[in-house]
Amino acid sequence: MDITTHESAQVSPHDAAAVPASGRPLRVAVVVASNREGRFAPVIADWFVSRAAAHDDLDVDVIDLAGIDLPTTLSRDPSDATKAVLAQVSPRLAAADAFVVLTPEYNHSFPASLKNLIDWHGSEWHAKPVGFVSYGGMSGGLRAVEQLRQVFAEMHATTIRETVSFHGPWGQFDEDGQHKDPAAADSAAKALLNQLTWWAHALRDAKSVRPYAG
Ligand SMILES: Cc1cc2nc3c(=O)[nH]c(=O)nc-3n(C[C@H](O)[C@H](O)[C@H](O)COP(=O)(O)O)c2cc1C
Repeated sequence: MDITTHESAQVSPHDAAAVPASGRPLRVAVVVASNREGRFAPVIADWFVSRAAAHDDLDVDVIDLAGIDLPTTLSRDPSDATKAVLAQVSPRLAAADAFVVLTPEYNHSFPASLKNLIDWHGSEWHAKPVGFVSYGGMSGGLRAVEQLRQVFAEMHATTIRETVSFHGPWGQFDEDGQHKDPAAADSAAKALLNQLTWWAHALRDAKSVRPYAG
């Protein structure tokens, strides 16, 4: 598995298209939704990326919204500064065959940073699968996930049934970010990734013979 981060990766959709779809690894964009100061998100992200490493047919690109400073004012004619920010992220969303969204729950929903990323884009999400890793208090972030399923349906995306959800994750990881009792979470991640890769292959194969009509 090849892991890239937003600091290092500038993926061209044209590069990805140069290799036959069936002959290249699945490109999975892992979107880290929280950009909150003092956030717990990096622990969840590092854990999930290590789980994805077990799948050697995945090319993982971590898109951390803490490093993507998109304005909340949407525009059809963005400024040069906004175009520069979009250039950091849009080609990577476009190049992805699948997404995994890592989201906490804020006030029974998902972070505004994530909605902003979704709203700035359109076709980048189309006809692709989206899986969720969530975390929060009693609900484990699942209320955020259920709302995201509605949003991603509007984005022509397919959401994956299996989820990973951490209920009060703060004491579950040691100082090195290792899960202290990993069996259940590892099993959930495996199920999510198995479903995600099935859908990603199926949709990529379908689009190679019949472009998505929208
Ligand atoms: C503004 C805000 C609202 C929150 N609302 C909820 C909530 O409704 N339900 C819940 O289970 N946890 C809630 N939490 C707890 C977060 O899910 C928890 O702090 C999580 O670690 C936040 O992710 P982050 O640290 O990566 O930003 C809230 C946290 C914040 C900051």
